Amino acid sequence: MTSPFLRQRPRRLRRSPLMRELACETRVHASQLVMPHFVLPVTSAREAIPSMPGITRVGYDELVSDCAKDMELGIRSVLLFGLAGAGEKDARGTRSHAHDGAVPKAVAALKREFGADLQVITDVCLCAYTDHGHCGMLEAGRVLNDESLPALASMAVAHAEAGADMVAPSDMMDGRVAAIRDALDERGLEETALMSYSVKYASAYYGPFRDAADSAPGQGDRQGYQMDVRNAREAEREAELDELEGADILMVKPALAYLDVIRRVRECTTLPVAAYNVSGEFSQVKAAAERGWLDEARVVRENLTAFARAGADVIITYHAREALQGGWL
Ligand code: PBG
Ligand code: ZN
Repeated sequence: MTSPFLRQRPRRLRRSPLMRELACETRVHASQLVMPHFVLPVTSAREAIPSMPGITRVGYDELVSDCAKDMELGIRSVLLFGLAGAGEKDARGTRSHAHDGAVPKAVAALKREFGADLQVITDVCLCAYTDHGHCGMLEAGRVLNDESLPALASMAVAHAEAGADMVAPSDMMDGRVAAIRDALDERGLEETALMSYSVKYASAYYGPFRDAADSAPGQGDRQGYQMDVRNAREAEREAELDELEGADILMVKPALAYLDVIRRVRECTTLPVAAYNVSGEFSQVKAAAERGWLDEARVVRENLTAFARAGADVIITYHAREALQGGWL
């Protein structure tokens, strides 16, 4: 007689590809993916980013053509990061809320070309526009909170007026979701959605991004405003505050090293949860794959699946294009 435990054989559902497909618990679909783009304030340009293989800084024309190709792969949402032109940075990040800055012009170009067929999300933060590289106003070595809110709100309004479908504040100032939501609503932009970088850690995984966006702080670090990597309870507090302040989607960032936090936020809100698979998480996979140390397709599939399994509805990832092109999902 066989052991009673062997009546229950988990391996039956692993027997064949079709059985595994039928029984699988998590599926990642192109419609969940968001592709980030770095936009220069010029009509035409393409610059490689050495620490992010395959990702480039683009002008408006290249952005439009890249998005057109990505749309054929099934990518329908993009996240835009604006870059300052030469000599455009100042202490207060004035160009962050210019109506003729990289992001408003890129949004307008995308909306002219694709209308409602492409969902345009914009990153709202001052660090690519301040000469000191901090995400808010700096005074005597401190990043001021309330004094930074008007600039962030103006930036969000400039993006929304250009046609952005969703704004995504990444600065981590307290109260910025409320300040931005109110500023949008006052101008009749109540339909513009808001995805908050609610749970954003002071992470070393942003290194390659700061090369890409030239946004590393000159002095000091971001630990006075981004979250302490040791904290998970605090993630719930940040998420609850942003929900109360009017956020539509709550983001956890980074993603891979914070799967526990994604799960935790998933369980404390009914709002959609986004996971940001950040630059350093992307580049470390790329570097290992270039050396032949990892199978890129399988690792990317495993990572993206992990975000969904942890509870993410939306996945922001630099791997989006190649994952769909290669049929990695
Ligand atoms: C700007 C911003 C950062 C990222 C998104 N928005 C960098 C930072 O906070 O230093 C990181 C994205 C990535 O690493 O891919 N506030
Ligand atoms: Zn910033």
